[in-house]
Amino acid sequence: MRLLVFGSGIGSNFQAIHRSILKNELDAEVVAVISDVHDAAIIEYAKNNDIDTIVVDNSGKERHEYERLIIDNIHDLNYDLVILAGYMRILSSEFIRSLKMPILNIHPSILPSFPGLNAQKQAFEYGVKITGCTVHLVNEIVDGGKILAQRCVEVKNNDTVDSLSARILEQEHIIYTKTIREIIQGKITLNMQKI
Ligand code: GRF
Repeated sequence: MRLLVFGSGIGSNFQAIHRSILKNELDAEVVAVISDVHDAAIIEYAKNNDIDTIVVDNSGKERHEYERLIIDNIHDLNYDLVILAGYMRILSSEFIRSLKMPILNIHPSILPSFPGLNAQKQAFEYGVKITGCTVHLVNEIVDGGKILAQRCVEVKNNDTVDSLSARILEQEHIIYTKTIREIIQGKITLNMQKI
């Protein structure tokens, strides 16, 4: 399975996925890592691991112009699955349609609760006792695509947003890799029309 990865930040989810590939626990290869942030840690990690990188700076650009540049850059790449791993841009419908393959995202809450930014903080401030993370397909609705997998994380009495987020992130690493493996193994079947 050829993965095309998008990320804007640390890329710990991507690193977990990549480590599984290196350990032969995931029968996949990374075609390229794409980012809107040239000094993002995910880009540095990719470079250090000889993975192709594509950085398209979005500053001063309209969304359609920025997305067009990405499409131009990935036009000739061969990939089976798009992995959003901390990619901080909302994808337009046109962009989603123009990517050839299904797009996966990981979100740090039990969707449909707490979509959007700072999901861990939203859940913490709401006062839920259980939160977690969700792997889902990406469609035009932010964090609204079909749910593929979820994991629960209990909110402890002495938690802070940071301690809770850290425990959710541990589960993200497990569930994202597991979901990709189950797609590769055919245990999860994706409609290749993707949405
Ligand atoms: C994760 O919490 C993920 O759920 C969210 O963005 C964060 C990315 O973290 N979409 P990382 O870049 O994978 O470390």
